[in-house]
Amino acid sequence: MLKNNESVASSTEQGGIVNTGTTAVDIEHEKRLAAAKSLEFVRDGMCLGLGSGSTAAIMLQMLGERVRDGLHIAGVPTSEASRRLAEQSGITLLGFDQVTELDLTIDGADEADAELNLIKGGGGALLREKIVASLSRRVVIIADSTKQVERLGAFPLPVEVVPFAWQPIAERLRRLNAVPRLRTNEAGTPFVTDEGNYILDCQFGTIEDPAELAGTLNGLPGVVEHGLFVGLADLLVVGHATGAQVIER
Ligand code: 5RP
Repeated sequence: MLKNNESVASSTEQGGIVNTGTTAVDIEHEKRLAAAKSLEFVRDGMCLGLGSGSTAAIMLQMLGERVRDGLHIAGVPTSEASRRLAEQSGITLLGFDQVTELDLTIDGADEADAELNLIKGGGGALLREKIVASLSRRVVIIADSTKQVERLGAFPLPVEVVPFAWQPIAERLRRLNAVPRLRTNEAGTPFVTDEGNYILDCQFGTIEDPAELAGTLNGLPGVVEHGLFVGLADLLVVGHATGAQVIER
């Protein structure tokens, strides 16, 4: 699936698309700056939520270096991919049966608006990511500058659904003016989340009221979770060419 950063990196002046000048190398640099900055919020002894995605992966690698230098932390991974990365980085892992609250979660996002409403789930980990964020005293989102938007909705909203009823749920979503697309993997078969569900990537157009849409989706039977994160992020750390900017909600 096309992520924001890829579309920007591949933009050209041909066909009326403006070249933003942002390259994949720039974006990687921005991700690294954001990831490094976020670690300034980590303290010895903390229980962390460990995010998913490429920006969070950089953060996990950097966190692993701190652990090897003597930092004591433990973390709950938000996906199986992050679990593997954290294990490789020597980070002590905790299960949901071992925590009731987390000190801090550091995670990525697909879009973030000025109120720090987010679209997440581009990597398919939205269910655990939302649970982990909801258990956290503080949530820090790390992102490259392409993720900052005025209004959410250019990135299709991931909606995680029970597999056996995905077609009627897709129809319900169409009636909410969405254009849902079943996420598939390279073989053309449905993408299956860590929890065994399917994802409908839903183009809603500009989302004028994220909280209202979140409430509507929460009320749809068969929707396990959706990627609208409203009121969950406390800080957004955005990488830019020259440094990382911290934005508070
Ligand atoms: C995964 C997510 C990721 O945090 C989101 O897709 C951002 O990923 P990346 O840092 O690779 O752009 O929500 O479910």
